[in-house]
Amino acid sequence: MNQKKIIALVLATSFAAAGIPALHAKPLGYKVPDDTATFKPGANVDVVRNNCTACHSVDYVQTQPRGPKFKKDFWQAEVTKMVKVYGAPIDDADAGKIADYLAENY
Ligand code: HEC
Repeated sequence: MNQKKIIALVLATSFAAAGIPALHAKPLGYKVPDDTATFKPGANVDVVRNNCTACHSVDYVQTQPRGPKFKKDFWQAEVTKMVKVYGAPIDDADAGKIADYLAENY
């Protein structure tokens, strides 16, 4: 046996002895969440999609608090904030439709 073969044999046995985990790991079954959330279907969802997806994902809407205190007034204030604070170019007519949609669906 030449020197190269001996080195290869030593390496192979020591890897086997070390039980390199990658060689033995079983595939894990898990499902990752969707990359990008989407708006629920509903009246005026197109208006919402057109005005509310330019700067950030729909997750921002989905992760807001829920419940009776977070309905029309809450969403109206959110839409106003997007316009006044962050400069979202949204028509007044659309702003009302968006707030209605959000209050209805979230
Ligand atoms: C001009 C860009 C822009 C547009 C268009 C926009 N947003 Fe935002 N939005 C922002 C920014 C900037 C933040 C704050 C991001 C941060 O804090 O990480 C934000 C944050 C939010 C949040 C998180 C809560 C908060 O108040 O910070 C919600 C909910 C939200 N936006 C909803 C909307 C909705 C609904 C629309 C459509 C009416 C919309 N956004 C359109 C820029 C925009």
